[in-house]
Amino acid sequence: MSPRPTVVATRRLPDAVEERLRSLFDVRLNSADVPLDALALAAAMRDADALVPTVTDRIDGLLLGLPGRRVRILSNFGVGFNNIDVAAAKANGVIVTNTPDVLTDDTADLAITLLLMVARRTGEGERLVRTGAWTGWRPTQLLGTRVTGKTLGLIGFGRIGRAVAERARNGFRMRVLFHDPYTADADAMALGAERRASMEDVLCESDYVSLHCPATPETHHLMNAARLALMRPSAFLVNTSRGDVVDEAALTSALRAGTIAGAGLDVFEREPAVPRELIALDNVVLLPHLGSATEETRVAMGNRAIDNLAAFFNGGAPRDRVA
Ligand code: DGY
Repeated sequence: MSPRPTVVATRRLPDAVEERLRSLFDVRLNSADVPLDALALAAAMRDADALVPTVTDRIDGLLLGLPGRRVRILSNFGVGFNNIDVAAAKANGVIVTNTPDVLTDDTADLAITLLLMVARRTGEGERLVRTGAWTGWRPTQLLGTRVTGKTLGLIGFGRIGRAVAERARNGFRMRVLFHDPYTADADAMALGAERRASMEDVLCESDYVSLHCPATPETHHLMNAARLALMRPSAFLVNTSRGDVVDEAALTSALRAGTIAGAGLDVFEREPAVPRELIALDNVVLLPHLGSATEETRVAMGNRAIDNLAAFFNGGAPRDRVA
């Protein structure tokens, strides 16, 4: 690798990752951690050989088609790459990679966390204690809903969906249903999960529904008013995938009207904006996109992104190429 390629990391990364980037590349770090605006991203596309973007950077056709663009690879720090216009990247000969596998367990753990939090009303309980409003134990205080032994419906049965199924089956003796047109039956049978031919069948039969599909034009507002209406009034929705898989306005109406019992959300349609109407509701748990947020996983994601860059600049094939 000579001369050293110039790499721009758009956000602050864990220390160990930044150190390794420095050791391999002429790297421009973002120690202030302020998201790059369109102008700064355009400058990076012109000045660098590679970018390490994140979910907060929108790399669109304009940036990819920029006259004088020097960037040849986008090594996305994240498994989801809906922040990048992949068709435009392909058309302009820019390689795109992501960071699968390393965040599967932590994201599945967070889906289960949200499921438990919303079912057992832990957000409400914590607010009660923190506001000093708790007056002591009562037999009827904050009664939640049982998780163990109930039916979990998974929309999407890829790596993270399967890891959630494993936790639900082994940890909570849940019956697991799923719908995923792209997964083979053998994967499901090994985990004791039951395939349903349609998403609608999963929604009707489940006590808990957890979303594990990527954000694509096909999955935009997949959970719309009509599909939310198929869920049981006693059922809960969990979303750790991408915000725009759910029609947030329709979800807010369903939660307000009580046509579903509650929701646990880690992702939102217009992050970091969270609608006031959702914040005002007690039957929803809201987290700030924490799915992969452990020290271990964020370092592993960084290393995977660096491995992809190193392979590319050494003339090899990056392991996690998606375009
Ligand atoms: C992912 O890896 O997709 C996380 O949501 C962060 O982007």
